[in-house]
Amino acid sequence: MEAITLSVNGGTCRVEADPDTPLLDVLRNHFGLTGTRFGCGLEQCGACMVLIDGAPVQSCGAALSTVAGKSVMTIEGLGSPANPHPLQQAFIDEQAGQCGYCLSGILIAAKALLDRDPAPTRAEIASALDDNICRCGAHHRILRAVALAAARMREEARP
Ligand code: FES
Ligand code: FES
Repeated sequence: MEAITLSVNGGTCRVEADPDTPLLDVLRNHFGLTGTRFGCGLEQCGACMVLIDGAPVQSCGAALSTVAGKSVMTIEGLGSPANPHPLQQAFIDEQAGQCGYCLSGILIAAKALLDRDPAPTRAEIASALDDNICRCGAHHRILRAVALAAARMREEARP
């Protein structure tokens, strides 16, 4: 066991755990942040994606020791039902998703994309979501929702 401190959704968190524990387990089991999903556990599906210092990472494959002192954002840090992020609102408006299991990871990957490129093409959106699998096959709506969110965010950013 080791005491490790990291930032999660803007707050400082300390956890005592085996340093090899996957970050996904720490988020869900120690911090109660169950919005981050367990899909495959093998870095193959993207359901567990979070931002680590702004970069999308599959948290099932990230050992706790590797995130000491770093800043983690989970889906809970993106927005809330009362105050949704434009991406979340666009996913609702486009009804982008069916079971919703993949959406936490997809929203996180989309956030990382729009942070670095506010005007991605459809192909660039698809490429940014390459590591995220949607078993329901909602890909077309998901791509539309990300494009809609990007357009709305550009509009909001206009002087
Ligand atoms: S659960 Fe992490 S990539 Fe599938
Ligand atoms: S909406 Fe069901 S897996 Fe994507």
